Amino acid sequence: MPDHRTAPRGFRLYEPCAGSAALTLYLMGASEQLLPYQGNKWRLAPRIAQILAMRGCVDLSAVHLADPGPWGTVWTLIGKGVAERQRLTVMIRELVQLDPRETYDRIVQEPCPEDPAELAARFLFLQRLSPAGRAVGWTDPPRRWKTAGFNKSSAYGTRATQDFGGVRPMLPYLVECLERLDGLRWPGSFSAASDSFEYPARPPKAWIPERTVVFIDPPYLGTTGYLGDAVLSRDAVVRNARTWCKWGALVLISEAEPIAPLMDAGWEAHQLKAAEKTGHAGWSQYDEWITVSPHRGGGQQRLFG
Ligand SMILES: C[S@@+](CC[C@H](N)C(=O)[O-])C[C@H]1O[C@@H](n2cnc3c(N)ncnc32)[C@H](O)[C@@H]1O
Repeated sequence: MPDHRTAPRGFRLYEPCAGSAALTLYLMGASEQLLPYQGNKWRLAPRIAQILAMRGCVDLSAVHLADPGPWGTVWTLIGKGVAERQRLTVMIRELVQLDPRETYDRIVQEPCPEDPAELAARFLFLQRLSPAGRAVGWTDPPRRWKTAGFNKSSAYGTRATQDFGGVRPMLPYLVECLERLDGLRWPGSFSAASDSFEYPARPPKAWIPERTVVFIDPPYLGTTGYLGDAVLSRDAVVRNARTWCKWGALVLISEAEPIAPLMDAGWEAHQLKAAEKTGHAGWSQYDEWITVSPHRGGGQQRLFG
């Protein structure tokens, strides 16, 4: 019989810059990412999970994802359950049956659809065909797609040569990945929203539940390329991180450098070596830093190791 005093207890994960939510999917037992997405944390997810485990956070009991871009809509839909996921998969399957180039050209010329399922299906289609996974975003309302182009080999596959094997078309593979979502370890609660991280962080209720983890993965400082030309300021990231920490959450921030004002306040930083695909065959090495809120005395110490 399990001892309730020592049995591991679940933790709640908030991802306010969720994007493709690679960390969440990894923690839910996924064996691959949904699709390539600029800045996604799929390759780093095992290391980030280790950092969480060091603080006693192993079992995911609840997830809340937010992103002001199209991912906010995608996760809201996917989180609604099997029926909505199936509806989304059917819509993508319909897009996949048409010629990818013609479908791409039609979609980018039309405004973003109002219907969330149609919007999510079109976004996933465009993102799957984006060269090197560069982010597909949208303009301020009235929304139009902002894409980085059309990757022919993702769309059609390439013929095998003597030196290289063929690459299979990626759109049917996207459908497979969506279907596999049903087999993941879904936490008891899964929700999502299209919130912007710009706004002051606020607790989901008047208090935050025990064992809350916030994983903040903002666009790299000073970069654009996600939503129109929007830039998320370092001040907003630091302010919101401090607020969550004050409420008792364990906060992790993923960036290209340790977050200096938080390091000065006693946070710790873990350096992770990463590699990113830059083109057809190229990879570049880079450092990612996870800045983590400090162990706290009293209740927090018991909660987080
Ligand atoms: C580095 S990506 C996150 C990648 C994600 N962890 C993953 O595994 O796919 C940063 C995300 O922050 C979102 N974001 C949040 N607030 C933003 C803002 N004010 N401006 C631009 N992007 C913002 C973007 O839409 C983007 O999906």
